[in-house]
Formats: sequence, structure tokens, C-alpha cells
Amino acid sequence: MKPFEAARHLLPDTPWSAAPAGEARAPANIALCKYWGKRDPALNLPVTSSLSVSLGQLGAHTRIEPAERDVVSLDGMPLESGDPFAARVSAYLDLFRWSPELAWRVETSSSVPVGAGLASSASGFAALVLALDRLYGWQLPTRRLSILARLGSGSASRSVCPGFVEWHAGSREDGMDSFAERLDADWPSFRIGLLVLSRTPKPIGSREGMNRTTATSGLYAAWPDMVARHLEEIREAIRDRDLPRLGEAAEANALAMHATMIAARPPVLYWTKDSLATMQQVWARRADGLPVFLTMDAGPNVKLLYEEASAGAVREAFPELQEVGPFRERAG
Ligand code: PMV
Repeated sequence: MKPFEAARHLLPDTPWSAAPAGEARAPANIALCKYWGKRDPALNLPVTSSLSVSLGQLGAHTRIEPAERDVVSLDGMPLESGDPFAARVSAYLDLFRWSPELAWRVETSSSVPVGAGLASSASGFAALVLALDRLYGWQLPTRRLSILARLGSGSASRSVCPGFVEWHAGSREDGMDSFAERLDADWPSFRIGLLVLSRTPKPIGSREGMNRTTATSGLYAAWPDMVARHLEEIREAIRDRDLPRLGEAAEANALAMHATMIAARPPVLYWTKDSLATMQQVWARRADGLPVFLTMDAGPNVKLLYEEASAGAVREAFPELQEVGPFRERAG
């Protein structure tokens, strides 16, 4: 199945009547158990399930209205049609372009710190799907919205939900069973600390990094079984609000993902000297008794996992940290 057919399958058949505009917000998310590797690159179908936490108020806000041609603006700045971001949005909108005259003006803004490696595409595509749903009054169930967001970017499937979210890998070829849903759990004292170490664009995008790893890394064969174990541990740790168990599993999962990339040919290495120094600092603090753990995505920045009771000590050790309490703030 092609992405356009998948989208068509999920959308109502009746002619769409548009409201003047649709607006929506979607949170960024950080994976505690990562999505790394596609079984179908066109439909963004993953090899394994993954589990994330949505970042409350931090994310994207998008407004969409019908227009004569696609126009995309980011943080108030209209983009040239050749701009890579505008081109990616327009290519995604093709999934909804049932007749050639359909086109849209899309205004999107992001509260995610720029270059924070926070998969801004995840909240961006999720907010865009939610805004389209409002524009046309489809009132699609979350499951369908998640599948549609997945067609834009895999991790976007998780950004349609607040809280802890599991994206089920599914097994169908058409991907209709590969969607995310919220776990029935919260954790008010849970904190995520964002450490932005570099704002320079990463040399290799996650799509290319993922594809190279699955195609060439001798360690990738071990990844699916590891994920199955980590998922189990992370689900239990969330249920029991057990930070050390969660932190150990999430950190091991992130490092295992990076190990698979480092073993790719040519290697994919997102870490910088600052990433390494920060990782070592986290481990030194933990050896001193501070319950703080780390996770990293396809970039050099580090995210810390801890609880409110340790927040003062964590902030003291990492003064540049931006703190998020995913269950403290209301998700948009
Ligand atoms: O959704 P993508 O294609 O940007 O890939 C995201 C990959 C990671 O951020 C590294 C892991 C994840 O699960 O979010």
C-alpha cells in the first residue's frame, strides 16, 4: 500500500467542507524506548514498538486554511517553496490532496527550543494532522490520527497523545495496526531535563541514520529482542513509579540504539565531546547517589530523567537545564 492509499483509507469518503481554518497544538515527545529501524520505509512502519513521554506544553501549534497554493510559514516567517521544511510539509499535504486544486496556507510555530534534538517534526506533523481534522470536521478517532501522523514522521504517531504513549509496531503490511495510544498511567513527580549542547544541524538525519543502521550494522540483529525486554521493564517501572528501574532501562535502551549506529558502515555517531562529558557527569553524579538517568536521540543533546525530589540537586549540577514536568502542565 502506498502512503496516499493509506491516508485515503483512513479519511471520510464524503466531500469535505472546510471551516474557515483549523488550529491545533501537539506536544513534542521523548522516547524512553526508542523507535530505530523501519520494516517499511514508505509507510514509516517500525521494526519494533516504542514508548515515549509527551512534553506537555512544549511542542508545535499549527493553523491551516484553504489557499490557492501551498504556503508554509514557520514561527511567523513565510518560507520559500524550495525551503526543505516547506517542501516536506507540502509533500505530506499531497496525501490529503484529493483534487489538484486543493492547497493550503500552513502557519506553524514551535515552543521547542530550536535545535534541541526534540524531534520537532514529531510535534509538527501531529499538530498538522490535528489541524486538518478540525479544518474539515472529520472528528477522526485518535488511532487514525496517529496513523496519519506516522505517515509524516514515525515518532509523530506518538505526539497525538499526552502522557506516556506506546506506539504498537503492528504486523499488517498496510500498517493499519501500527498506531500509538496513551498508557493508563501518570506520574506527577516525573521530570525531564533538556540539555541543549549544540544547535548546529546534525550531519545525518534520523531517516538516513536508521536506514544505514538496519542495512549495515552487525549489531542491529540484537536490537528487536533488547527492545522487547526494555519495553517490559519500562512499562512496569511506569506502573510502579520506580525511577531507578525506568531510568536504567531507558538509558540502556538509548545507549544500545547508539551502539547499533556506531557499528554501521560507515558509522553513524551523533555524540560530540560535550555529549560525552555530559554523559560522564551524569554517571558521576549517580555514583554519588543522585538518581538521575539520561537518554539521547539522533543528535548530540542529552535529556535527563529524574524526579521532583532530586530537581534541586539536578539543576545545581546542570544549571543550563530546561525542566519539563509532563504531568504537571496541562497538555495542549
Ligand atoms: O520519527 P523520526 O523519523 O524523526 O525518528 C525518530 C528517531 C528517534 O528520535 C531517534 C527515536 C524515537 O523513538 O523518537
